[in-house]
Amino acid sequence: MKLVVANWKSNPQTLKEVKRLFNAVKGGLKSIKGMEVVICPPFVYLNLSVLDTDRHNLILKLGAQDCFFQSGPFTGQISPQMLKDLGVEYVIIGHSERRALGETDKLINKKVRAVLEAGLLPILCIGETAEQRKAKKTQEVLNIQLKKDLNHLISQSLNHLTIVYEPVWAISTTNGRAALPEDAKQGALDIKKILTKIFGSDAKKIRILYGGSVDGENVRDFVFGAGMDGVLVGQASLDAKEFTKIVKSVMLG
Ligand code: PGA
Repeated sequence: MKLVVANWKSNPQTLKEVKRLFNAVKGGLKSIKGMEVVICPPFVYLNLSVLDTDRHNLILKLGAQDCFFQSGPFTGQISPQMLKDLGVEYVIIGHSERRALGETDKLINKKVRAVLEAGLLPILCIGETAEQRKAKKTQEVLNIQLKKDLNHLISQSLNHLTIVYEPVWAISTTNGRAALPEDAKQGALDIKKILTKIFGSDAKKIRILYGGSVDGENVRDFVFGAGMDGVLVGQASLDAKEFTKIVKSVMLG
């Protein structure tokens, strides 16, 4: 089933604006079927009683943008169990904006495993920087990230796992430097090859998405041209009309 994930990042700044955006997206997507749409707001807005004025017939699923791998004396951290209790189903792990703040593959691996153990669905983000791409190290980077981030995963958990190929240089571009569908396609092929090496034929169970400057104009090229199972959308997910257009383009094929 195709999957579209909205990553709101550290937006919007007020509860009023969050409610307006959420309800506009919900209204725009009333008739979606045959696919999954996940909204990932900041932690403080994840509680449905805060977010949703009408909690019945909720088509949209909820995701978190990160979580910690433990509960207890860890000031400022959010555990997978807390998220589960709120009705959250998905958790983004290892986003490049978190890796840039110092998150290591070792920590990311702990988070992926903790999320799975809690019965939640990890969305693992991987991808090369502009420098790594220039140095022709894309495959090497993807290989290292996948091997380390998915260490100790058992094959039974693979159908709960989603991987997003997000070339770091293509995220939040405003000057038309989004990746080409061919770049995404090549990334997906590389990722599938590496996953097959690690997990054998069970690797087919893992969904692969593309992320990086996806909008209503280019989404079809990324999903259908590059053979992806869906997309992760940052900037364009903050505009209810644009996001609705993205989801409908994926649904209509
Ligand atoms: P973008 O963000 O769509 O704004 O490029 C994608 C992401 O970083 O998740």
